[in-house]
Amino acid sequence: MQQESNRLFRRGKTIAFVPTMGFLHEGHLALMREGRKHGDTLVISIFVNPTQFGPSEDFHTYPRDLDRDARLAETAGVDIVFAPEAEAMYDEGYQTYVDLDLLPRYLCGYSRPGHFRGVATVVAKLFNIVKPQVSLFGKKDYQQLVVIRRMARDLNIDVQILGVPTIREADGLAMSSRNNYLSQDERRSALSLFQSLEEAQRSVARGIKDAKQLIRGASELIGAHPYTKIDYVAVCDPETLDDVDLVDRPALMALAVWAGKTRLIDNIILTP
Ligand code: PAJ
Repeated sequence: MQQESNRLFRRGKTIAFVPTMGFLHEGHLALMREGRKHGDTLVISIFVNPTQFGPSEDFHTYPRDLDRDARLAETAGVDIVFAPEAEAMYDEGYQTYVDLDLLPRYLCGYSRPGHFRGVATVVAKLFNIVKPQVSLFGKKDYQQLVVIRRMARDLNIDVQILGVPTIREADGLAMSSRNNYLSQDERRSALSLFQSLEEAQRSVARGIKDAKQLIRGASELIGAHPYTKIDYVAVCDPETLDDVDLVDRPALMALAVWAGKTRLIDNIILTP
């Protein structure tokens, strides 16, 4: 992949890059279609990255289907699928990690210690392998997007990071490879994630600014559904992820909720 990137560079070609863990859905494909507009060559990676999964998380059961993914990628205009083996990315002596000081302490960082260290590390490695000028990330994983932006800036990685809006099922559920884990009942309850975010936005539009009140409202709505367990509901600054007390300017409302044994996340920018 590195040799191919160098060859493309010598020929004056720009590279747009979409990193993924595969089991592609419309959310991933939207990133690719957008990526198509931002480079001569569109590269995606498919790599279920072991370092971003905790010991009790779903690394081994994470869905994988490379043949299907390759076909879907082709329909979205992808030129190169980079799908390395774990041993090629992390050899026996591997010992270098990218750790951010503050951003990983918020939101998903509490219940997934080490997660963003794994994400930042693998994305830094992928950037050094693929050498893209532009790379695209979904706003569905909002904290991941700000972590990657910060990392690229802090490490002077010469890549433009673009955020792409969340793609949803017709009923509002944010698309995710993990939706495949949900039973019918859990899936119905999972709709409460987006419903509560939309309800919060309606409240903000009606003039409610108090973050605590908005968080209480969303938590009650989600809690009223069976099989749900709230990990967090937060209202925070979209860049620093610091909690805000008042929504008197655009603020990120982010949440993580268990539906049965599946942890789902979603978010919205609340705009007064
Ligand atoms: P993965 O979960 O496969 O997601 C790959 C990219 O697709 C991420 O940028 C994610 O935000 C985006 N994405 C997922 N669902 C989306 C949706 N419904 N709408 C829009 N975009 C969506 O995120 C990862 O993989 C990994 O952490 C990775 C960055 C590849 C590092 O291992």
